[in-house]
Amino acid sequence: MDKLIIEGGVKLKGEVTISGAKNAVLPIMAATLLTDDACIIKGVPELRDTNTMVKILRSLGKAVEFEKGVVSVSSLRNTSYIADYKLVSTMRASFCVLGPLLGRLKKAKVSLPGGCVIGVRPVDLHLKGIRALGAEITIDAGYVFARAKKLKGAHIYLGGVYGSSVLATDNVMMSAVLAEGKTFIEAAACEPEVVDLAEFLIKMGAKIKGHGTPVIEIEGVKSLHGATHTIIPDRIEAGTMILASLITKGDILIKNAYFKHLGALIDKIEESGANIVKSENSLHVRYKKTIKAVNITTLPYPGFPTDMQAQMMSLMSLAQGITVITEKIYPDRFMHVAELNRMGALIQREGPHAIVEGVSKLSGAPVMASDLRASACLVLAGLAAKGKTSISRLYHLERGYENIESKLEKLGARVWREKE
Ligand code: UD1
Repeated sequence: MDKLIIEGGVKLKGEVTISGAKNAVLPIMAATLLTDDACIIKGVPELRDTNTMVKILRSLGKAVEFEKGVVSVSSLRNTSYIADYKLVSTMRASFCVLGPLLGRLKKAKVSLPGGCVIGVRPVDLHLKGIRALGAEITIDAGYVFARAKKLKGAHIYLGGVYGSSVLATDNVMMSAVLAEGKTFIEAAACEPEVVDLAEFLIKMGAKIKGHGTPVIEIEGVKSLHGATHTIIPDRIEAGTMILASLITKGDILIKNAYFKHLGALIDKIEESGANIVKSENSLHVRYKKTIKAVNITTLPYPGFPTDMQAQMMSLMSLAQGITVITEKIYPDRFMHVAELNRMGALIQREGPHAIVEGVSKLSGAPVMASDLRASACLVLAGLAAKGKTSISRLYHLERGYENIESKLEKLGARVWREKE
């Protein structure tokens, strides 16, 4: 296993290009199960998670090639309806094969993904949604077995205790596109990644309206065909780069980034006193003056993304004043607090809140990544810290950030890998 070493204190400068969105591409790859035709997906980031999805599609009977950011999927044999525990357990997002398998084959047996370090992460909303479409569901030996003679459109309220669910919306949408009649998903997730999936499904011949709003209307069709699609830029990677510029007092031009997907983050950044120059497809972030503390509450899109909470905590740990961070999506997503404190931050966790008292400097230390976004938060802290930081359990970072070291290196960071 590798660890990442960062010698902090360099002001990052230059240009960086954002990769395709991990959270958009995974369900879009799963959606190829809805047809036997060939599909081509462009702008696919080379990540542990995208490679896992390639393996899952192959295990289900697809021929998949993945080269230079292009995934080509065609059918090798009849699609299998069973998604194995070994693969599903390595990545929660694999659960989004349930919707397309059920939609296409009218039966699907998919391993339950289990919880993870950021929380319990139930799948009740996924099951509620597909049950409403007429599927009968049994849970046995760790698998969900869903089957239906036919799926019928329905009005489905999909809101949960923590608001809407991204992958539940994806799963229900992918079942409903081949159901008989109209489906309305109410309290649907509005995330740009859900919109990207809907756009791909429309290219495949699906009839969908209202994606990007809390009510998605789907009129079932008999079959779908192949399609070609380019994935939207990863807003979380772009957000992480915005913070990399500010935390290192740098000057970065972030290309292939849509400011319209980053409204809540940019609003908070501007409230903290920083300035971002926005163009259609790029953002210019130049540090000018001391960053002030700003309170953050994570919410479903278009609210502040939970996937940026940990990284924002790094920036706030060096801001002037006291920040209250409230996590409303995953109340236990605070594993990074203890690691940041090891680097000299002053953060106290109180239930779903973290109270961050800004300090004047962080110091490099050996730290451990607990999950994907916590790893990014430690990278940011390491870039700003005095001295050497070593981040172990690097595989978390590899799940979601394409070529992160070379991107940071090109911006001037002193960063390299070492064997643990
Ligand atoms: C997706 C993202 C993940 C992000 C999360 C929240 C992908 C591949 N992953 O995960 O990076 O952190 O959205 O923006 O897109 N919930 C239930 N019951 C359910 C499903 C979810 O109670 O059946 C809860 C979850 O525990 C959580 C909240 O709803 O508290 C939102 O989760 P959800 O949007 O479903 O997250 P994912 O789609 O798994």
